[in-house]
Amino acid sequence: MHQDLERKLVSASDIQARVAEMGREIARDYAGKDLLLVGILKGSTIFMADLARQIDIPVAMDYMAVSSYGLSTTSSGVVRILKDLEESIGGRHVLIVEDIVDTGLTLNYLVESLRTRGPVTVKVCVLLDKFERRKVDVEVDYLGFLIPDEFAVGYGLDYRERYRNLADIWVLKPEVYTKQGE
Ligand code: IMP
Repeated sequence: MHQDLERKLVSASDIQARVAEMGREIARDYAGKDLLLVGILKGSTIFMADLARQIDIPVAMDYMAVSSYGLSTTSSGVVRILKDLEESIGGRHVLIVEDIVDTGLTLNYLVESLRTRGPVTVKVCVLLDKFERRKVDVEVDYLGFLIPDEFAVGYGLDYRERYRNLADIWVLKPEVYTKQGE
């Protein structure tokens, strides 16, 4: 185990099993509909790649990037679109695919913002929910796992751009981010 990691939170095999279930549920719910998966960069990339392959109906995929924590581990509350969609979403069914919901600020902003563009539906699929830290209400339609209020890394989630490539999800040792003054 890497010296910066405290303990394993969700194993790769548990992730794969849950992602397969979520994919089946999504395929059933959107059968016959024009579904666009919107992955939020960069944290959702690995989840999006696995999830999309478990959805056994035709889907389109696009990505957005928004500013979140920057280099810190606490949310500033400011959300800004850094990269917008390339697909137009008018008349389509949009499913936002996100790695984690923490305060809810990012997803709340994204849902509100995409709803103004004329889609039929905007729903949310999240792998991890740090529910104890919620500041604004966000309806999560598909959820992987509820997790405690600890900093998670791996399976796409990073701290300062590292650890995204870990196959399991781990709790980062608090001293890793507190020692850097954040
Ligand atoms: P929210 O706006 O506070 O809900 O934050 C959502 C974003 O914060 C996520 O997309 C992540 O980029 C980041 N984030 C929140 N908690 C964690 C964590 O435990 N590990 C890694 N990134 C996190």
